[in-house]
Amino acid sequence: MCGIVGYIGQQQAAPILLDGLKKLEYRGYDSAGIAILNKDTITVSKTKGRLKNLYNMIDGGNKLPGTIGIGHTRWATHGEPSDINSHPHTSTSGKIAVVHNGIIENYMDLKEYLTSKGYCFVSETDTEVIAHLADYYYNGNLLETIARIINKVEGSYALGLISSDQPDRIIAVRKDSPLVVGLGEGENFIASDIPAILKYTHNTYLIEDKEIAVLTQDGVTLYNTDIEEIHREIFTVDWDISAAEKGGYEHFMFKEIMEEPQSVLNTVGPILRQGLLTIDKIPDCMHIIACGSAYHVGIVGKYVIESLTRIPVEVDIASEYRYRNPIITENTLVVVISQSGETADTIAALREAKKTGAKIFGIVNVVGSSIARESDEVLYTLAGPEIAVATTKAYSTQLAAVYLLALSLRKALGQLTPNEEKRYGRELLRLPNLISAMIEQKDKIQYYASRYYNARSVFFIGRGLDYALSLEGSLKLKEISYIHSEAYGAGELKHGTISLIENGTLVIAVATQEALFEKMMNNIKEVKARGAVVLAVATEGNTKIEECADGVLYIPKTDPFFTPSPAITLLQLFAYYVASLRGCDIDKPRNLAKSVTVE
Ligand code: M6R
Repeated sequence: MCGIVGYIGQQQAAPILLDGLKKLEYRGYDSAGIAILNKDTITVSKTKGRLKNLYNMIDGGNKLPGTIGIGHTRWATHGEPSDINSHPHTSTSGKIAVVHNGIIENYMDLKEYLTSKGYCFVSETDTEVIAHLADYYYNGNLLETIARIINKVEGSYALGLISSDQPDRIIAVRKDSPLVVGLGEGENFIASDIPAILKYTHNTYLIEDKEIAVLTQDGVTLYNTDIEEIHREIFTVDWDISAAEKGGYEHFMFKEIMEEPQSVLNTVGPILRQGLLTIDKIPDCMHIIACGSAYHVGIVGKYVIESLTRIPVEVDIASEYRYRNPIITENTLVVVISQSGETADTIAALREAKKTGAKIFGIVNVVGSSIARESDEVLYTLAGPEIAVATTKAYSTQLAAVYLLALSLRKALGQLTPNEEKRYGRELLRLPNLISAMIEQKDKIQYYASRYYNARSVFFIGRGLDYALSLEGSLKLKEISYIHSEAYGAGELKHGTISLIENGTLVIAVATQEALFEKMMNNIKEVKARGAVVLAVATEGNTKIEECADGVLYIPKTDPFFTPSPAITLLQLFAYYVASLRGCDIDKPRNLAKSVTVE
């Protein structure tokens, strides 16, 4: 989704803004722009397409003098990607410029009102109303102006605003859209995400909804909407810029897969040392809500938690849950899973659940994100920054987190015997090694990718946890390689989908679940009999599968609950190599955004 940066200080702003926008490219965008305030004049440069276009247009920023500015990468929602619709947007006088992430839901009403007052709109965006509203309300005090705007607009927003009438400041505010303030020495920053400012400072303010930040060169002051000053502790980011850079790898996705063993170890190690999580109250039932890959983790969670605790678990896509009026009692534990902690649908679903008094347990990667802040309890996945749009290491750490939650619940129920605790603990601590073993097989995985990268359509099949895993394997493949792909419970294929299998159709059969292995063999035979080419994923030792599959990739033996961990690394690498052979833009697949901050 859109990315915002802002700079105020003593250095030339434009190159810093371009550099910051580059770090936010991973969020997904279709146009980019900056506004620079220099000697009481605002100059806007913006263009459709890649940041490179903007860079060339302004000679890497050198063409634009000035030490104050705001920048934006736009992911179109209202109006097509075009130069005009790109941000920043300005008031008609050109004295106010604004960048925005989110959606102003009542923009039509506001536009009508402002039009009746004589304002002319040049773009199709919702954002332009902010620029004109700012002009309409401006009374010589930008802080008061923004407070009035907040009272008028509905929806989600992160805003950065500059005005040539108050040329010593940037004003920023957020609601349901991410925005951090970076605190430097003689310079300050705003950004949609930390990597954009990490080169300059590790000190930040994580601002809350409707808090207004006034940035000058010398400091940052935070206010509420009543214009009362508020105090905020500085949050110091404890990871380095190298964590958000490619470090010699060709793609972030590959680098992030390589980081999985360490990320999983970081997530499980401290909790296993402390002796699992404390669960104060055993829930009657659980709801897991999430989107995309995080939702797929939820499905794994359902299988594992129900098996280990017999507590009923429902798993929902957040965008459905928020509108389906789910039955939530005060003894329902609602588990919300999100890498970014800023996914709009997931936040909305969390709030729906919270209204009922249910307890919210967040599994979140980004510290201080909205979901982390709004959950009653948070289990942080320690994956570090994830830049590639396709999630890999965050998914792996989320899996580890649901295993920890399942075991902790079993312990709280008094059903986890000391022997089990030791055995499961040992297996969880082995996961990093098992994942590394998959990484060591990368040449073999690449070989299979080279055999199948021209596939037109792929089916993933599996049973039980392998079905949950197939959903993620299939999503990974399609989102980065653009090959049509679907996942099915292997037993479900005969209920319609098998009619799509023809000579040469690739079926990836995941068969790591010992108890369901024979059933999977039958399903493989069924699709083979209809001409499918089968690449199987099985557990070491189950070589019988070679009799019916065309190729087999093996994962090491582990407890059946934990097989998704090594197996997903294998499927992620397969998707990566396929996309690479097809020449796809792996880290930034078309139409996708890393953090989906609009509904
Ligand atoms: O940040 P979140 O975990 O809430 O994001 C949820 C999904 O948007 C995300 O998992 C998405 O499906 C990934 N691109 C998949 O690789």
